Amino acid sequence: AQVTTAEFVKSSVRTEDCPADGIPEFALVGRSNVGKSSLLNSLVRRKRLALTSKKPGKTQCINHFRINDSWYLVDLPGYGYAAAPHEVRTNWEKFTKDYFLNRETLVSVLLLIDASIPAKKIDLEYASWLGQNQIPMTLIFTKCDKRKKKRNGGKRPEENVEDFQNLIREFFQAAPPWIMTSSVTNQGRDEILLHIAQLRNY
Ligand code: GTP
Ligand code: MG
Repeated sequence: AQVTTAEFVKSSVRTEDCPADGIPEFALVGRSNVGKSSLLNSLVRRKRLALTSKKPGKTQCINHFRINDSWYLVDLPGYGYAAAPHEVRTNWEKFTKDYFLNRETLVSVLLLIDASIPAKKIDLEYASWLGQNQIPMTLIFTKCDKRKKKRNGGKRPEENVEDFQNLIREFFQAAPPWIMTSSVTNQGRDEILLHIAQLRNY
C-alpha cells in the first residue's frame, strides 16, 4: 500500500463544490497546528504538496488530493484556533460539520490528536461529536517524536495516548482504531496507508 501518484485537485468551501467523481475519501481533521498538512506530506513523501506553517490557521478550505488515481486524502482547516475571528470560526464549524454529515464518499475521518501534550477539552468535544453522530473515525496521534517536557505535564506520548483513549471511551460503542505517528521520523506512515487500503476494500 504505497503512494505512487498524488495530485492536488481542488479547494472547496462547501460540500456541494467538492469533486463529484465518487471515489472514496479520507479526511484529516484536528486542532489547528496538530500536524494535518505535515502528515499528508509524509504519507505522499512530498515536502510541500500541502502547505504547512508554524502559525496555526494555515489551511482554510476543504482541499482534495487524489492518490494513485483511486482515492482522496482531504486536508481540512483546523479547529480551535483562538485567534481566528468569531465569524470565521462559526463558518468553519458549519462547513466542516456539513461536510462530515453529508459527504457520501467519506469513508472515515482521521482525527489527529497531539500526543506530545495532555488531552485538550476541544479535542474531547470533537471526538464526542463524531461519536454521537456515528461518523467512522480513526485516531491518529501526531508528534510522537516529541519527548516529554515539564511544562507539558511531564508525560510521555504513550501515556498521553492512553489517557486520551480512556477519556473518550464513553462516546463510542467500540473503541476507535488508533495509530501513533510522527511526520519527522515518518513513524506510522505504512500503518496508515495499510489501514486506508483495508477500509477501502470493505
Ligand atoms: P492548520 O493548517 O493551521 O490547521 O495546521 P496543521 O494541522 O495542518 O499543522 P501543520 O502540518 O501546518 O504543522 C504545524 C506545525 O507542527 C509545523 O511547525 C510542523 O513542522 C509541526 N509538526 C507537524 N507534525 C509534526 C511531528 O510529527 N513532529 C514534530 N516534532 N513537529 C510536527
Ligand atoms: Mg494545515
